[in-house]
Amino acid sequence: MSFRNAPLAVIHDRDKSTLFTAETRAAIDEQIAKYPAEWKQSAVMPALTIIQDANGGWLTRELMDDLAVYLDMPEVSVYEVASFYGMYDLEPQGRHKVCVCNSVSCMLLGAEELIHHVEHKYGVQPGGTTADGRFTFKEVECLGACRHAPAVLLDKTYHENLSPEALDKLIDELE
Ligand code: FES
Repeated sequence: MSFRNAPLAVIHDRDKSTLFTAETRAAIDEQIAKYPAEWKQSAVMPALTIIQDANGGWLTRELMDDLAVYLDMPEVSVYEVASFYGMYDLEPQGRHKVCVCNSVSCMLLGAEELIHHVEHKYGVQPGGTTADGRFTFKEVECLGACRHAPAVLLDKTYHENLSPEALDKLIDELE
């Protein structure tokens, strides 16, 4: 997704932010309240997570634009955050996300085996989604669980010390 021609204009009117439900607004407001009023843009990351979760696991351009309005910040600044961090997705995703850490500790302790296993058993490459839409498979940078590598983030739950068989069991339990 390219944001090269994204407008830089800022619209300082939260009421023009129309795509969020009352529940979503309340959750974002809770995050904004953690920062001084003049620094409400600091809530951009948790706010992106909230709107991504509410949208089935991915962010549309329109939702990011609405968030920019809501936080009084340039649209392009929201795009920069959303496109930089691996936990945000800018395309439709499967019903679940299986994220295998591919950083050093995990690679040394079996992540490569996990990645090859998922590719071959489920027929999906990193960045892709299984044919039945059950899960999107992602390779991600360090999950901060290096001590118990290899680590996998399945939706929002961390799993550590995983063998291919243990990962299969977790995937089997997905709806
Ligand atoms: S290297 Fe995998 S969790 Fe840190």
